[in-house]
Amino acid sequence: MPAMTHSLDPALHAPIATPSLAMRYLRVDHAGEFGAIQIYRAQILIGRWLGHAHVALLEDFLAHERRHLATFAEVLAARGVRRCRSFLLCGVGGYALGLITALLGERAVMACTRAVETVVNRHLQEQLVHLADTDPQAHAAVASIVRDELGHRDLAAERVGADSALTRAVEAVVAMSTESVIWLGLR
Ligand SMILES: [Fe+2]
Ligand SMILES: [Fe+2]
Repeated sequence: MPAMTHSLDPALHAPIATPSLAMRYLRVDHAGEFGAIQIYRAQILIGRWLGHAHVALLEDFLAHERRHLATFAEVLAARGVRRCRSFLLCGVGGYALGLITALLGERAVMACTRAVETVVNRHLQEQLVHLADTDPQAHAAVASIVRDELGHRDLAAERVGADSALTRAVEAVVAMSTESVIWLGLR
């Protein structure tokens, strides 16, 4: 029978380091991209079923979000950082938001994208300011997605049409949900 050995790996005894703000940004962005993917997947599913006109646009958005997810996944993997604790919550919440908004109709779908991307772009701008001096690699990852996210916001805004009780309600719920998962992920 082999003798029992005790690990002397110093990493096991090192104090747990608090992740840097850059690391938390990367993790929350990675989780957010997963949330966005799930929103669009659900909206495309229902949109195809209901014959929505903007399914092809949502498919474009989805392709961008998959690329964004891969960008952040690559940076996290290179740094040996685990995904955000809100990753699954983003996925489940995103899918639910996608289903509900798609069932409410195309204006609700576009209001959802406008709300998500408005919140996301505000956070990305904040991140870029902080990362510019502290973490060039993380800055480059964030900078690489900004143009797509602004495009999603603007293309959706053009299609929302006149604001109504429905679009205002959708935007309030979606903006609050997005802010909440970002807040939770950054803690
Ligand atoms: Fe994205
Ligand atoms: Fe997006």
